[in-house]
Amino acid sequence: MNDNKFHLITSKSIPNFKGNINVDSDKSITIRSFLIGSISQGVSVVKNSLTSEDVISTINCLKKLGVKILKGKNNEYKIFGKGLGSLSAKSNTKLNFGNSGTLARLLLGILATTPNIKVRILGDKSLNKRSMRKLIDLLNQFGAEFLPKKKKKFPLKFNSSNLPVGIFYKSGKSAQLKSASILAGLNAYGNTTIVEKEFSRDHTEKILLNNKKIIKISKGRKKIIKVFGKESLNNFKIHIPGDPSSAAFFTALTLLKNKSYLKIKNVGLNPTRIGFYMMLKKSGANIKFKNIHFRNNEKVGDIIVLSSKLRPIKSSSKFYLNSTDEYPILFVLAALIKGKSIFYGIEELANKESNRIKEMQIILKQIGIKTNYKDGVLTINGKKKLNLRNNINVSSLGDHRICMSTVVLSLVTGIKSKIKNFETVRTSSPNFLNVIKKLGGKYEKQKI
Ligand code: S3P
Repeated sequence: MNDNKFHLITSKSIPNFKGNINVDSDKSITIRSFLIGSISQGVSVVKNSLTSEDVISTINCLKKLGVKILKGKNNEYKIFGKGLGSLSAKSNTKLNFGNSGTLARLLLGILATTPNIKVRILGDKSLNKRSMRKLIDLLNQFGAEFLPKKKKKFPLKFNSSNLPVGIFYKSGKSAQLKSASILAGLNAYGNTTIVEKEFSRDHTEKILLNNKKIIKISKGRKKIIKVFGKESLNNFKIHIPGDPSSAAFFTALTLLKNKSYLKIKNVGLNPTRIGFYMMLKKSGANIKFKNIHFRNNEKVGDIIVLSSKLRPIKSSSKFYLNSTDEYPILFVLAALIKGKSIFYGIEELANKESNRIKEMQIILKQIGIKTNYKDGVLTINGKKKLNLRNNINVSSLGDHRICMSTVVLSLVTGIKSKIKNFETVRTSSPNFLNVIKKLGGKYEKQKI
């Protein structure tokens, strides 16, 4: 892992720009591909993989569990799958999930029903602050144990189930928990049934659909996922598209900056991930999806964005699931659109890499933007003109999306910002600053 820590300073607004860019590859799909590849039969190939710190944490954990992974050219990886139920580790091995909630929840789902796993589990400062209560409750149902029993945060001890049996699970707002239940179900005896009323991201299901014998999905008003335990998984080849959550920062920058245009190529446009774009189109954003095609069951295309005159954002709670990671940048947009924007049903954001509601309120307050949060509803009173003498200071939060959102806020307004421990952006988007530079944005790195 790269240990170069630094604070980022920005103080100049970005000049108008026109350009074509690629963004970092999709984090959710990359992590899932490595995890599922490692429990499949034979060699799986991941092309155009994201190589970020969360992915490196994934590879390190899998290697500790006996999986061979080789990196080739152009971010292509070969994963030598060990087959279902075959991951193994010496007793008391330490698995460090770093900053990644996705890795923690999905890998523990797999390990819950893998025989004879006794490991110590932990994350970085940010992950160790996040509640794992819902994950623990879920995996307890498969017979896995987290110790000490009363503690709900990492570090913990973890013992897999001796006799895993499939469960019935009503999935809520978390795609990570849904995925954990699917992955645990793969090596349980009997079937696991998952009922989903609101549809969260479905990349796990899409990768597993390579295997008709192990998963069946019926979709009406509710989605019912049936996982048939103890069937082996075929190896697969996958090409990872660009991450729509990483593209969101550049989309916001283009919309807010006048006389600017951007084409973001080959981005994943899975309907469970594009709430940000749909919501902004309702507010007058000039965003178009072009060159749409399907690859590995996933919808992919180019995003074309033009500077736009935006109306305040009204986001009902039905947007939560398909815009989950985009709220910090949506709050930046709302702050710079004159009038009152309102976001419903966002309470889950308090348990992300940081408390994203509270931390974004702190940032916006520093530049004179009034916000109000109560019972899952945030209102932001946006302004077109801001006092440029105010500075933004972001403390060390270990939250990549808050760091990137602040860069956009500063580059559009010209307000000076100091963002501590900006290196955390490497967890999802190691090329973020390179793209900012390519578009003409200026910044300074202050080594720590
Ligand atoms: C993710 C699901 C979301 C999201 C996270 C990635 C995933 O978390 O915030 O960045 O890959 O499944 P929750 O499942 O906790 O909502």
